[in-house]
Amino acid sequence: MSTASGPPPIYSPGLEGVIAGETAISTIEEGLCYRGYPVGELVEHCTFEEVAFLLLYSELPKRTELVEFRKRVAANRHLPQPLRTLLHTLPNATSGMDSLRSSISVLAHFDSDVNDNSRAANIRKAERLLGQIPSAIADQYHFSQGAMGVAPRPDLSHGANFLYMIRGAEPSAEETKAFDVSLILYAEHEFNASTFTTRVVASTESDLHSSIVAGVGALKGALHGGANERIMELLHDAGGPGTAEAWVMDALAKKRRIMGFGHRIYKAGDVRAGILKPIARELADAAGFGKYEETAEIVEGIMAREKKLYPNLDWPAGRLYNALGLKNSLYTPIFVMSRVAGWSAHVIEQHEHNRLIRPRSRYTGPGKRTVPTADRW
Ligand code: COA
Repeated sequence: MSTASGPPPIYSPGLEGVIAGETAISTIEEGLCYRGYPVGELVEHCTFEEVAFLLLYSELPKRTELVEFRKRVAANRHLPQPLRTLLHTLPNATSGMDSLRSSISVLAHFDSDVNDNSRAANIRKAERLLGQIPSAIADQYHFSQGAMGVAPRPDLSHGANFLYMIRGAEPSAEETKAFDVSLILYAEHEFNASTFTTRVVASTESDLHSSIVAGVGALKGALHGGANERIMELLHDAGGPGTAEAWVMDALAKKRRIMGFGHRIYKAGDVRAGILKPIARELADAAGFGKYEETAEIVEGIMAREKKLYPNLDWPAGRLYNALGLKNSLYTPIFVMSRVAGWSAHVIEQHEHNRLIRPRSRYTGPGKRTVPTADRW
């Protein structure tokens, strides 16, 4: 392949092994760290709100900064009425991710900063979306079942308010902590497909809402965030501890992908899955889903033995959300209510150190030819 000028192009399908840009937000080089802090320590010592602040502002918040940040995010939990009206009119079968993609797009029309790409405006928009997204998920969830929405509670944390809005009752401290851990683990992961998508959009000098809408579209796919909605279906199909081995062997023989396993980067296991596994197991056992946990253990053993493939974060996350009484269709939208913090940090970084993202393609079509002028019809 020849180019007019510049270095010779490198071809790597799926951009595997390609360093496509620089970031100061997170790294997976020596274990996953957000802004230098190991994710295991963040999970132990911080709440999701502190981690979201860290991603957006580069440093962990001081006490007063956290109080003000929480207030600003919570103040945005009420949606503009036209969006609620729209959510009422969507067909009941609309998936949570499709509805959320539309909701974020509609929210842009009501955001006075929509076309301001300055750092300050981007942070204001990110904080608004952090407040609005859980409400947009919860409202559509209830409306699609012909039910009324549950009003948000400004006094509750990001995670506790969401569980409250879905279930109509305040979660226990253990449930809130477990859910919060999952949100921290989902918040950021360098140049994954959806984050890279948000950066591609931002690199054209497009706005934060457009970037996030595109990120939602990329996250929805089964090979990315959409995997967590398929975990319980898989465990159900496996039938239980007695049939799991035969079921997995049959699926592998048919070349089926087992959702929740494998990763483009982590070939020896995903640290996040290891952190969430005992937490998911404890809640699942307590909620009477021990059979699924036993089945999951067997599936893990077979995947390691047969394919040397290990669980990714979606594997325990799906089981945790099931144990919390949440329906499958909510799982990828929950990923969004967390990852919007990481995506926004990347949009800000891209805008501040921008270079248009425009790779080349390897052409595989016909050779150069002449348009026929006769006998074409
Ligand atoms: N189940 C069964 N086989 C799998 C698999 C899975 N979950 N993940 C990878 N494989 C197999 C591939 O089929 C391939 O086998 P082959 O060499 O016989 O063709 C081999 O493992 C290598 O896979 P590859 O497609 O090169 O890995 P990748 O880096 O492109 O894929 C994922 C990464 C995440 C897309 C892939 O592991 C996957 O599809 N996982 C399931 C979806 C999922 O959990 N997504 C969430 C990711 S966080």
